[in-house]
Amino acid sequence: MAPAARQEFFDLSRLDVFIDRMVSQRACLDFAIAQTARLPGPILELGLGNGRTFHHLRERVAGREIFVFERAIAAHPESTPDEAHTLLGDVNETLPRALERFGPTASLIHADLGGHNLKKNDAFARSISPLVEPMLAPGGLMVSSDRMYFEALEELPLPKGAVAGRCFVYRR
Ligand SMILES: C[S@@+](CC[C@H](N)C(=O)[O-])C[C@H]1O[C@@H](n2cnc3c(N)ncnc32)[C@H](O)[C@@H]1O
Repeated sequence: MAPAARQEFFDLSRLDVFIDRMVSQRACLDFAIAQTARLPGPILELGLGNGRTFHHLRERVAGREIFVFERAIAAHPESTPDEAHTLLGDVNETLPRALERFGPTASLIHADLGGHNLKKNDAFARSISPLVEPMLAPGGLMVSSDRMYFEALEELPLPKGAVAGRCFVYRR
């Protein structure tokens, strides 16, 4: 059997899934940054992790503050926000406090909070959707690695380069 035909019988490897996620994050973030460039409100990064996507945002965005939500900072030093832009703790607690502080002003929210357990990720995305939705400004975009469960946000078609199911984009 020709290699190209045999390929169809293989499941995606974890490496395939990881690469698809990274490529999709970059495509969706670049799209969302451009689409929201005229909005003045802050950018919210939910889940700092190693800090790669935070660093990407910081390199690509001008004129907007970036606030990071993370329960335990363990990022590369070059990708660690200063204290004033770090909201330390569980997002179930920090998101409601952030809504009191910022109101519905976020121009862009990026969430990458999940781990390897897809069922857990889905349940978590469902539970935090009502906490995320009110933070977005009109015209603001949300990019998420997991499907979200919003009442009033519109799901947008993915930009070129993003892989279906690996990233989701929503607009208020
Ligand atoms: C997959 S990593 C983020 C990776 C990041 N996008 C990057 O480019 O390096 C997910 C992060 O979300 C954080 N996280 C998960 N659940 C959280 C919660 N309930 N509250 C705050 N942070 C959480 C974890 O500590 C972890 O650092």
